[in-house]
Amino acid sequence: MPPLPVIIDCDPGIDDTLALLTAFVSPELDILGITPVCGNQPLDRTLRNALQICELGGRTDIPVYAGCARPLLRAPIHGQFHGKTGLGNTVLPEPVKTAEPTSAVRFLTDTLRAAAARGAPVTLCALGPMTNLATALRMAPSIAGGIARIVMMGGAYREPGNRTMTSEFNVLADPHAAAIVFSSNIPIVALALDATHQVILTPDHVPQFAQAGGRLSTTLAELMAFWDRNDPGRYGSRGGPLHDPLVIAYLLAPHLFTTQRARIFVECHSELCMGQTIADWYGKSGLAPNADIVTRVDAEGVIGLVLERLSRYAAK
Ligand code: BDR
Ligand code: CA
Repeated sequence: MPPLPVIIDCDPGIDDTLALLTAFVSPELDILGITPVCGNQPLDRTLRNALQICELGGRTDIPVYAGCARPLLRAPIHGQFHGKTGLGNTVLPEPVKTAEPTSAVRFLTDTLRAAAARGAPVTLCALGPMTNLATALRMAPSIAGGIARIVMMGGAYREPGNRTMTSEFNVLADPHAAAIVFSSNIPIVALALDATHQVILTPDHVPQFAQAGGRLSTTLAELMAFWDRNDPGRYGSRGGPLHDPLVIAYLLAPHLFTTQRARIFVECHSELCMGQTIADWYGKSGLAPNADIVTRVDAEGVIGLVLERLSRYAAK
């Protein structure tokens, strides 16, 4: 099987970092580009982090394109569990690699238009607010034909929100962008909090991650030790959900995931429920389903997969 062409849209972020490092050593994926966006941190920081992560993972060959510096309509909000820089307490060397001169939106429109023309659509991995993709879809709606599907981390259906009572961070950070994507009729696989809260990394996992990573061991240990303090008030113990790596794990091992089809909507008006995602589980809207929403995850299977991939750095 030829590798699957993917674009990774992200806002690194500790869990974005783990997702990128996992993808970098997965030959099943052909990463055409990385498109950081304003999210966990302002754009200048997520961009810089993405460049540093490419260097850390030895993948300076992958082009990085600067995405949107602000959400479509709302004021920016940033992540709460990633420390001041987005990478916890980890300090990586000043990057030598630079961003491409082209913007992320231009890269998306050009690449996806060409993919549509060739009949070889690309898979979009969305690990952050979907501002870049929504802007590209507004500029060039025909690029939808160049997207095989969007595999996204975001939203909360049967789970409550993690940033507000109703809303998950990635969707809340740009609900209007999510609304554009959800109404695009592009096939979606949704890894919401319903899925990611089934895969909690605990302090016990930290040494396993540290051992796995070879020359990345120290960095992985630092990142995981920061992440395992994610939100003990919420989870009842230390530990952090493996949000964004689930997108990569889904592409590598879909058999570890159970999905249910439904139409997804997002609330963009209510002050109380802004950014809430709603699944039409019982066809009440009269609209066809547009998403496979992940309802169950084989947590140990996913953690084992990520560890196995990270252990490939030991051989490098
Ligand atoms: C999502 O929000 C971010 O903080 C994480 O990187 C993840 O993409 C989880 O709600
Ligand atoms: Ca993210």
